[in-house]
Amino acid sequence: MEFPFNVNNILSQKISKVGNSLIPEGYYGDRRSAWDYASKISDILDAMGKSSAVAQGLKNAITSGERLRNSEHTVYLLIDPEGKSGQGSVVGLLKVGRKKLYVFDASGAHHEMQPLCVLDFYVHESKQRMGCGKALYEHMLREEKTSPQYLAIDRPSEKFLGFLYKHYGLENILPQANNFVVFEGFFIENPDEVNNSHPFLNSRLLNTLNEGSQSKSSAVRTGKTEERYNGLQQLYGRYAAHRPPSTIGKILQNQSLKLLTVIFQF
Ligand code: ACO
Repeated sequence: MEFPFNVNNILSQKISKVGNSLIPEGYYGDRRSAWDYASKISDILDAMGKSSAVAQGLKNAITSGERLRNSEHTVYLLIDPEGKSGQGSVVGLLKVGRKKLYVFDASGAHHEMQPLCVLDFYVHESKQRMGCGKALYEHMLREEKTSPQYLAIDRPSEKFLGFLYKHYGLENILPQANNFVVFEGFFIENPDEVNNSHPFLNSRLLNTLNEGSQSKSSAVRTGKTEERYNGLQQLYGRYAAHRPPSTIGKILQNQSLKLLTVIFQF
């Protein structure tokens, strides 16, 4: 995406990190030029946010300069320094931030957490499927010192689900009562956990509880990837209100015997 100013002068790194000051991390300059930077970053966020919303079929943009200024979120911006005859163009946007959530594990127990969430992700249409999204995502993971399985995703699109499966092998979703998607592995030694409603729950117990769902999902894995994600889209996509299946009852019913056996072994 091109802008009526030299993008390379505003975003000097290939990937820049921007918080609520709207000044890219690492900026050194006087107050007057900081104001100019912030106003141009705001224009970039407004334009990229709008395009992201259009790409996702959303009525309102999730990202804008104003929204970022009034939040604790972080945006990563990817540029092509060679774009617009060497003036630079903006290629991608990735917004993350912490949210207080109640997250259900595979046994149906809820956990109060404040995980890092992926809130908005967009790569310009002319640059999709060329590895730009992966470069942006990897940079964010390094900066935030986290791993893909610990992120909660706000209503992922079908393309994003495909992206997570392709690059990180994430496919088995733990059903939630909100619009966030978390994957199997989310609870294993997750550093973000605040309060665990199952004090005795640990990874050994989780593995046992997950056995049933794993065998089911490996059957799905044999089908075509596209069909799989079309199916997931109906349940978890941005365009569908998510109604979680009644997994809690089922899991408790089917596995309570197994659970008791494991507890008594401790
Ligand atoms: N159709 C299906 N899968 C796609 C598509 C597409 N049009 N584009 C990317 N993907 C997935 C595929 O798994 C693809 O691998 P493949 O080409 O081998 O099939 C993989 O992503 C490509 O990886 P990258 O090139 O690193 O990713 P890209 O630069 O395309 O960025 C992104 C991925 C951000 C999802 C991009 O496709 C995009 O902007 N899509 C439109 C907006 C969107 O859906 N954003 C996510 C919304 S949800 C949220 O923000 C929380």
